[in-house]
Amino acid sequence: MVAMEKDGRSIGILVLAAGKGTRMKSDSPKVMQPIMEKPMLYYVLKSLSSIGDIAVVIGHGGEEVRSYLSEFWPGVDTVWQREQLGTGHAVMEARDWISRFDRVLVVNGDMPLMTENVLSSLMDLHKGGCSFLTMILEDPHGYGRIVRDPIVKIVEQKDCLPDQSEIKEVNAGVYLMDVVPLLSCLDRLNRNNAQGEYYLVDVIESFQGSGLTSLPVVVDDSDTMLGVNDPSGLAKAGTILRDRYVARWMSSGVKFIDPLSVWVGPEVTFEGEAIVYPGVQIWGNTSIGVKSTIGSFSTLRNAVLEESVTLNGYCFIEDSILKRGSKAGPFCYIRDRSVLDQDGFIGKFVEVKKSHVGRGSKVPHLSYMGDASLGEGVNIGAGTITCNYDGKSKHPTKIGDGVFVGSDTMLVAPLTLGARSMTGAGSVITKDVPDEALAIGRAKQRNILGWNGDRSKKSEGIDHDDK
Ligand code: UD1
Ligand code: CA
Repeated sequence: MVAMEKDGRSIGILVLAAGKGTRMKSDSPKVMQPIMEKPMLYYVLKSLSSIGDIAVVIGHGGEEVRSYLSEFWPGVDTVWQREQLGTGHAVMEARDWISRFDRVLVVNGDMPLMTENVLSSLMDLHKGGCSFLTMILEDPHGYGRIVRDPIVKIVEQKDCLPDQSEIKEVNAGVYLMDVVPLLSCLDRLNRNNAQGEYYLVDVIESFQGSGLTSLPVVVDDSDTMLGVNDPSGLAKAGTILRDRYVARWMSSGVKFIDPLSVWVGPEVTFEGEAIVYPGVQIWGNTSIGVKSTIGSFSTLRNAVLEESVTLNGYCFIEDSILKRGSKAGPFCYIRDRSVLDQDGFIGKFVEVKKSHVGRGSKVPHLSYMGDASLGEGVNIGAGTITCNYDGKSKHPTKIGDGVFVGSDTMLVAPLTLGARSMTGAGSVITKDVPDEALAIGRAKQRNILGWNGDRSKKSEGIDHDDK
């Protein structure tokens, strides 16, 4: 399906992403550099995806970009630019693709802060020929300058005459162009410039040479147009995006006690009001239910918190579900598709891996539950461990409803504890326990009478060298 603009013309979007991004000093291409745990390209595509068909020009590190696109953006096309001879050359290489459309929106791939609003105002103002976004910067260094006299043109930093370097209006790197005249403008590009490249920006002059308009559209909020070129740009883009997401959730009732200390990724959702303490990180596909509270220094990644869940701080939760009314922490690690059922509790210094903790069940202190399923109303004593790994494979532990496990029990899997059974503290349990039985597996206690009385008497008169 070919997307249409309001006036019925078809539009394609070409994202330029073939450049090396030398200033990143990375083996990965620039558009794959991470911002809030997603490649920069993710944000670019997100701002564009509702506008029309998209193709990404790939080149440097192109295989990495292509495999990301085929996994996460299957509708997006790719165009190879095998040799990177400049932004104009990137568009030339996409001639066939852009020829399918009446108009093309060309966007630099290093602009992760672009918003749909800015793009739609560009489309509204476009009256044919070429329209492009500009901004006014206190420090315009590095950007192409907008020269408006006598006709509009863009002069790159390296080609600027001294008085042109003073110009504060710069090219953002977003162009909406009618395809037919663009194709002939591309034919006229040359490499007679300081960098010996085909500059896309030279089409601005060329459109006017053909009697068409080139319209610079100034955008007030220069943050949206940030071009990210190095690690400090990645960090800057990250904090601006973070501020946007946090502001968005505050407006729907989430209370961040210290918004500047919290990170909320682009795919996180809050179902309604919630409280987030300082120093929290929430990543991936996490969703937070209403009236939940997330204590300080917790990190959540692909977690589902249902309604009224309380995390008491320092909780690490990955790929797991905490159901309504459950509580966890401080200091716990819940991971690998674990489920904490309604009103359950996972407490201090507890790790839970690939386990189901049943309704109202408690694992309050210093325990490891791996590959375990706990029924309802179970109580696990402090220091209990499921010995789930024999060095070759992982084995399950099944703990029935109402079981009471004594402190410091080693549950050697595979193992089943029947409903309402018990284990004695300090037991090593290697055999299944029937319902309602008490299992004790520990050395029997011996009391050796007088043993220490003698010894302590003897030691009373001793001079210790280190005292
Ligand atoms: C470009 C503009 C400049 C503008 C700035 C805004 C040109 C000549 N200059 O400069 O006027 O102010 O963006 O950020 O266009 N790319 C390719 N193939 C290539 C070269 C680049 O696909 O052969 C891609 C890059 O991956 C990048 C984008 O084009 O995503 C822009 O390239 P970059 O080298 O960052 O251009 P700037 O020097 O920043
Ligand atoms: Ca750039």
